[in-house]
Amino acid sequence: MDGASIRPLPAPCAGRTVGLARTRPANGRAQVNRITRQQPQANRTVDEITGGRRLRRMRKADWSRRLVQENHLRVDDLIWPIFLIDGKDRQEDVAAMPGVSRYTIDLAVKQAERAARLGIPAIATFPNIPHSRRDARGSAILDADNLINRASRAIKEAVPELGVITDVALDPFTSHGHDGILKDGVVVNDETVEQIAQAAVLQAAAGADIIAPSDMMDGRIGAIRDALDAAGFHDVAIMSYATKFASAFYGPYREAIGTDGLLKGDKKTYYIDPANSDEALREAEQDLAEGADMLMVKPGLPYLDIVRRIKDVFSVPTYAYQVSGEYAMIKAAAANGWIDGDQAMMESLLAFKRAGCDGILTYFAPEVAGRLRG
Ligand code: PBG
Repeated sequence: MDGASIRPLPAPCAGRTVGLARTRPANGRAQVNRITRQQPQANRTVDEITGGRRLRRMRKADWSRRLVQENHLRVDDLIWPIFLIDGKDRQEDVAAMPGVSRYTIDLAVKQAERAARLGIPAIATFPNIPHSRRDARGSAILDADNLINRASRAIKEAVPELGVITDVALDPFTSHGHDGILKDGVVVNDETVEQIAQAAVLQAAAGADIIAPSDMMDGRIGAIRDALDAAGFHDVAIMSYATKFASAFYGPYREAIGTDGLLKGDKKTYYIDPANSDEALREAEQDLAEGADMLMVKPGLPYLDIVRRIKDVFSVPTYAYQVSGEYAMIKAAAANGWIDGDQAMMESLLAFKRAGCDGILTYFAPEVAGRLRG
């Protein structure tokens, strides 16, 4: 095209340097920096003020908003966490998570089939272990036929095309609700890592496609990778809960897996301080170096800055967990008529995409998938 035919932008206010400069930093994302300040002047028109740059133009209609939409939420972005209980043909509601239930394995298989029909790529299973089978070491995690492993077998048999993600943290199995072995009031690191690595192999043998350790022990990713490889599970991936914060937003989950009354103290000696962001990056870097295939940030919405930093710095598959408390807040406010629950759900999930997530673990998954498929 002839350059002369391009209409130049109206000159900014006479005699003044007003404008925006675009710089393209190493990560390729264009940034707009205000380099000069407009001088106050009376009686300028909006076009004089904006230099004719009117950002509302593209927002004027649905079709133009769709054309300029930068981020999209798709069914392919969803991972659905589901809760398991022992027994048959039973479903229990989780009071603090309206719309969420615990399922016996036979019913969990039905939910897995539903997930596959909706096009959800993967589910993540969390067991509510009978209290009689919990002990100080969380030994039942080393039972090849425990609830989580039986569920993986049943689900992979019925719906082989659905990804199954399992957590190897000890908290559903310990009598004290901590993610590791407790000795003299201390969650001991190395012994816990050894046990977690063994449990990961059992979970892989039961059919788990992705092992997702949520315990934040040091060295767990490398130990799990070694153990999986030694057992021949080279194709089983690791999604690291790399940056898991000591958060108040896990409350309803603890009710769901029955650890709410058990936990003594808090998890501050192993989860990250919510005040820290550089430390989260070091955790992510360490887990990648040890062999993590995918990284997760948890909780989700309050930690989107961490998602963005991780995605920008490492450019690896990055996920966030919209945790139980985040889900409960939206549901509770909607139930009171204080917000539009459906819109808040969709907006919160789109925010994860905008922050850089490749996918989101969310209890809303089936509801959202249903909506996205119309
Ligand atoms: C612990 C674990 C937690 C969640 C999943 N696994 C946190 C905790 O109980 O401390 C939270 C998930 C949620 O809140 O939805 N290994």
